[in-house]
Amino acid sequence: MTEPWWKSAVVYQIYPRSFADTDGDGVGDLEGIRHRLDHLAWLGVDALWLSPVYRSPMADFGYDISDFCAIDPLFGSLDDFDHLLADAHALGIKLILDWVPNHTSDQHPWFVDSRSARDAPKRDWYVWRDRLPGGKPPNNWVASFAPEPTWTHDPTTDQSYLHLFLPEQPDLNWGNPEVEAAMHDVLRFWLDRGVDGFRADVVHCIGKDATLPDDPPEVAGLPHSVLHDEPLTHDLLRRIRTLLDSYPGERMMVGEVYLLDIDRMATYYGDGDELNLSFNFLPVHSPWDAATWRDHLARTEQALAHRGGWPTWVLSNHDVPRHRTRYSGWPNEPADAPRTEARARAAAVLLLTARGTPFLYQGEELGLLDADVPPDRVVDPGGRDGCRAPIPWSADERHGWGAPGDAEPWLPFPPEAETRNVATERADPSSILHLYRRLLAVRRGSEALRLGDEALLDAPAPVIAFRRTAGDDVCTVLINTSGETHEVSLDGPHQVVVSSDAVPAEPGAYTGVVGPDQALVLRPA
Ligand code: GLC
Repeated sequence: MTEPWWKSAVVYQIYPRSFADTDGDGVGDLEGIRHRLDHLAWLGVDALWLSPVYRSPMADFGYDISDFCAIDPLFGSLDDFDHLLADAHALGIKLILDWVPNHTSDQHPWFVDSRSARDAPKRDWYVWRDRLPGGKPPNNWVASFAPEPTWTHDPTTDQSYLHLFLPEQPDLNWGNPEVEAAMHDVLRFWLDRGVDGFRADVVHCIGKDATLPDDPPEVAGLPHSVLHDEPLTHDLLRRIRTLLDSYPGERMMVGEVYLLDIDRMATYYGDGDELNLSFNFLPVHSPWDAATWRDHLARTEQALAHRGGWPTWVLSNHDVPRHRTRYSGWPNEPADAPRTEARARAAAVLLLTARGTPFLYQGEELGLLDADVPPDRVVDPGGRDGCRAPIPWSADERHGWGAPGDAEPWLPFPPEAETRNVATERADPSSILHLYRRLLAVRRGSEALRLGDEALLDAPAPVIAFRRTAGDDVCTVLINTSGETHEVSLDGPHQVVVSSDAVPAEPGAYTGVVGPDQALVLRPA
């Protein structure tokens, strides 16, 4: 039996505002992505995930949607979208869209109707409740971004509406079958256009018990969105899966199930009848440390294996500081010190060889750090501007963003953009960009790395060591998270297939040691 494409794919996340701009307004657009598909094809990724490009007032930069079936003019048009999809498919690249089922914008016509009167036709499409005595919010849930209640009182009808995120992002009431039907129609609209799947935003939050019980006091300070784990959601996911499976071509959904407990997260795979994939966010909140990662590898296998679930791996995305930034800051070490790049290179080896579907975030292939965003340029209510800085395409002053006289990009560039840009790194075979490309090529050519079993190996404490096996194809991976050299003896001679720190002129024999911050992919000689 052949495995579905999304098991062996490498998915590349595009944050469209910051990828590439063609109309000179300082904000990226769909045509920008289309013009840069050659970079992605050259790199060798299999699929793209676009963060939201729908019509939006941009209170949360597109995660507040006022029309699920229209492209925001800032990004282009539906024609531009169709053109991008066709060109990506022509290159053999799949395309998945961000689908935001938990909430809409407060400007969405559904909410405009809902808030207009208690007996409005769409009143029940959102979650409205009376305040408690003394004007207190209906429950103790805490919103994301700011430690505020998840409720905003609306004087028009003297009731409060629920929003797990900003007040501009009212939560939909999926308990109402009309909402479920309308959101299924949104999926169909894009599936009919030919998209290959969806990344489902905070999808664990969609099912809500109508009693909306308080969070327990011991966790009551945490945002409710990281706690919400409601059995009703599983029924909704099964019906979404049925819809996806009714289309030809293995359409898929990867869920953003932001629960920092892998066993709970794993339940969202159902019995193979809910999400196809679910993000595993523990590594995003972990230090670069071998013991921690060995634990993640082992626990991920344990949590998913009995369900037949397939793991995912992610180091960076548009919501957290980039991993090169996170892995810096050791005492007296500036963020741009050589070791932070060495760690980012070793982490790339881990991300692209561990068993599961890897998700890259635009710019990590360049080894980007977060931008330093001065207070007068901060725009995100969630403090995430640094990792959303524009991608530098070239060494010149504008780094590929418009012509002299055009608008400045909406955020400052990341540090080192004069050298850390696509053109400069493409011209340098020793760059981290070429390392990513080599890893992707080796992965593509190896059944063991794409789909094989994984077994942890004994190694010195600071070294993560594992073996991937599919029939005769065997790859051994050694990742040294320390600044010292370590010996790792293997059974029999091995050949280096990829080294994180070298230009592989001639792949050499494995010498029995793994250098400081080095990662190696090996094959039996
Ligand atoms: C998800 C998105 C994040 C967004 C939030 C609300 O966590 O990744 O960017 O702000 O949902 O939609």
